[in-house]
Amino acid sequence: AFNLRNRHFLKETDFTPQEFRFLVDLAAGLKAAKYAGTEQPRLRGKNIALIFEKTSTRTRCAFEVAAHDQGATTTYLEPSGSQMGHKESVKDTARVLGRMFDGIEYRGHGQEIVEELAQHAGVPVWNGLTDEWHPTQMLADVLTVTEHTTKPLTDVALAYLGDARSNMGNSLLVTGALLGMDVRIVAPRALWPAEEVRKAAQALAEQTGAMITLTEDVAEGVAGVDFLYTDVWVSMGEPKEVWAERIELLKPYQVSMDTVRATGNPNVKFLHCLPAFHDLGTVIGRQMYEATGMTELECTDELFESAHSIVFDQAENRLHTIKAVLVATLGS
Ligand code: CP
Ligand code: NVA
Repeated sequence: AFNLRNRHFLKETDFTPQEFRFLVDLAAGLKAAKYAGTEQPRLRGKNIALIFEKTSTRTRCAFEVAAHDQGATTTYLEPSGSQMGHKESVKDTARVLGRMFDGIEYRGHGQEIVEELAQHAGVPVWNGLTDEWHPTQMLADVLTVTEHTTKPLTDVALAYLGDARSNMGNSLLVTGALLGMDVRIVAPRALWPAEEVRKAAQALAEQTGAMITLTEDVAEGVAGVDFLYTDVWVSMGEPKEVWAERIELLKPYQVSMDTVRATGNPNVKFLHCLPAFHDLGTVIGRQMYEATGMTELECTDELFESAHSIVFDQAENRLHTIKAVLVATLGS
């Protein structure tokens, strides 16, 4: 066991590969205990602040249910519900919340904001998604991968297709590198992770034996992989004006049954952090259809609803893995 008490979780590389795997194992144990009805609350008397400057379904609910299962309380601060960044500086907010809460989750824009919170709060701060990183998602994704393969992680190949110059592209590349995986970014060069992220991943790969591929070629990128992964083509906080250009660039990278066939692996699994644009069932989906005539973007509805898709196992695992982070950093 590793002692992670009072640690922040701001980005994947805050933890060593061993610590990261420990959190995934802890999550698997907490999941089993919840299923068996034997979960032991280790967060009794703890109070947790949840700051969301961007919207959320999974991350917010996972933090709230995890805290509740473990005996802690939560206070949700929505974008318009706190003074932070508007009337009060991040530094002052951090010092106030740190006097009242035992831990703080932050979802928002720049990574520097969550870093500043952590610097001044005096209590653990967890990153619930920034423009740059989505570290709690990575724990859920790795748990889901381990549940859906018999291979050790170091033998697992995962291809991420789509907008890779984003939190998900960055996080998957670095996490794959950290854990020694065969991780592939399949995207137009203009949407690859920034050079500093690629360099950091390469440096990690040299220590862990990970295999890193960045390619514009879908056939090359997906050949033989165990997992296909995609995310929205336009992230929260990006202006609508980027839609047209993004769709033009990313059309060839839509994940579909053709992509499944191109892997040559009939058992390939499909992952998506969600929310996903695979049908017209959303307001933004309908706006997108009116603007572009497309009913599906990053993945087809056929694939999303197919037996390859394990996206709801993945979504559930947000709960168990976020609980592991809370228990490891705050638990008694
Ligand atoms: N995957 C994810 O972070 O989902 P939410 O935006 O709903 O939290
Ligand atoms: N890249 C997406 C991920 C959502 C979980 C976004 O930032 O909107």
